[in-house]
Amino acid sequence: MKIAVFGLGYVGAVTAACFAKEGHLVIGVDINKHKVDAINKGHSPIIEKGLGELICKCVKNKRFSATTSATEAVLKTDIGMVCVGTPSMESGAINIEHLKIAVREIGEALNGLGRFYSIVIRSTALPGTIEDILTPILEQSSGRKSGRDFGICANPEFMREGNSLEDFYKPAKTIIGTAGKKEKEILEKLYSFTKTTLIATDIKTAEFSKYLDNTFHGLKISFANEMAGMAKKMGVEPIKAMEIFCKDRISNISPRYLKPGFSFGGSCLPKDIRAVLYKARTEDIDIPLIGSILESNDIQIDDAARMILKTGKRKIGLLGLSFKPGTDDLRESQFVRLAEILIGKGLKLRIYDKNVSMAKLVGTNKAYINKEIPYISSLLCRTIDEAVKGSEVIVIGHGLKEFRDVAKKYYKGRIIIDLCIHKAE
Ligand SMILES: NC(=O)c1ccc[n+]([C@@H]2O[C@H](COP(=O)([O-])OP(=O)(O)OC[C@H]3O[C@@H](n4cnc5c(N)ncnc54)[C@H](O)[C@@H]3O)[C@@H](O)[C@H]2O)c1
Repeated sequence: MKIAVFGLGYVGAVTAACFAKEGHLVIGVDINKHKVDAINKGHSPIIEKGLGELICKCVKNKRFSATTSATEAVLKTDIGMVCVGTPSMESGAINIEHLKIAVREIGEALNGLGRFYSIVIRSTALPGTIEDILTPILEQSSGRKSGRDFGICANPEFMREGNSLEDFYKPAKTIIGTAGKKEKEILEKLYSFTKTTLIATDIKTAEFSKYLDNTFHGLKISFANEMAGMAKKMGVEPIKAMEIFCKDRISNISPRYLKPGFSFGGSCLPKDIRAVLYKARTEDIDIPLIGSILESNDIQIDDAARMILKTGKRKIGLLGLSFKPGTDDLRESQFVRLAEILIGKGLKLRIYDKNVSMAKLVGTNKAYINKEIPYISSLLCRTIDEAVKGSEVIVIGHGLKEFRDVAKKYYKGRIIIDLCIHKAE
């Protein structure tokens, strides 16, 4: 294929050289003449392990050249990969000016081009940038129609500087966000050399994926550092502790607890996080990330209450009361807290939880209800139907099939709020 790569920085230079190595004809474009000259002399414009040798080889065998002219590059290629910078502004907002300019230049070059052209956005930009900002710029500057005359898609870059070449050939994943079949096929063909599976999705999800990854990576590092500070203070060797933590591939390094839904509760998580926070306070250790966990969790409960109150309805059927399905444990249950807020606002609640009925409860849990939440016992129903029949809003707390089925059965004239599907609006 013939590929133009716009922006010859850390991402663009690696992308261009690696595609040239794969046998494609690549033309790099940059507004910086020094970078263009460096490449045409066979030198790397950036410091990156193995890149100098690769560029030298690709320039020598005429697979890779560079220019400052966007028009020249577009006219000689079929695909334009945009890798220009998207730096932060003082406010923290992302600056997409380079992206807009590069895309406008591509659009102007497309004007009068009698064939389909694919524009692949590698730069990191927020969801909506491609469809709401760049596509109109392209259509306006080219006088051509997206989907018919050109295709635009998101193909975020996940390489790590210092390991870029290795990551290019063995990426953790390759995401292609497209709106049309044609762009998808072109990118599948382009990436057919990688061993990893291509993840095809819509444009906005692909754009978002980069932010999801980087925010999580930052979160992981800060979590490790804050907990390491705590470990040291308590005489625990942090690296050894974290190595043990990482050995758990079921609960720790896994998809578990990463499915968006409702808040957490129960007798362990809130209590143990509170204990860590108290210890940090007494030892004068600053752990703002961990300090924000319970606050963030409470926001989920407040948001759910707000969502229910916003319906303006008074009769609510709540399905699920214990902190998770399959237990009768009500200690620090997030659903008990939600029920308390709703009762406090004067709403009429009927609650069903097959593991929580006064008839069945014994010992600790019966004592807990009688002592801590006596008002809840009178709201408990013996069957799901009893809980939802007279309700105007059905709130699904536990993600059980029987709850979803009953909600479907009674959906007419009722509002269903499924808390297991995050922030059902
Ligand atoms: N650096 C990384 O490790 C990395 C990893 C993944 C994603 N990203 C994202 O990739 C994008 C590029 O990052 P980078 O680190 O390579 O940036 P960079 O600043 O190193 O390079 C950007 C290049 O684009 C050029 N440029 C600006 N406007 C241009 C235009 N109109 N036409 C042609 N060239 C133009 C600049 O001169 C510069 O050489 C950013 O959105 C970044 O967030 C970076």
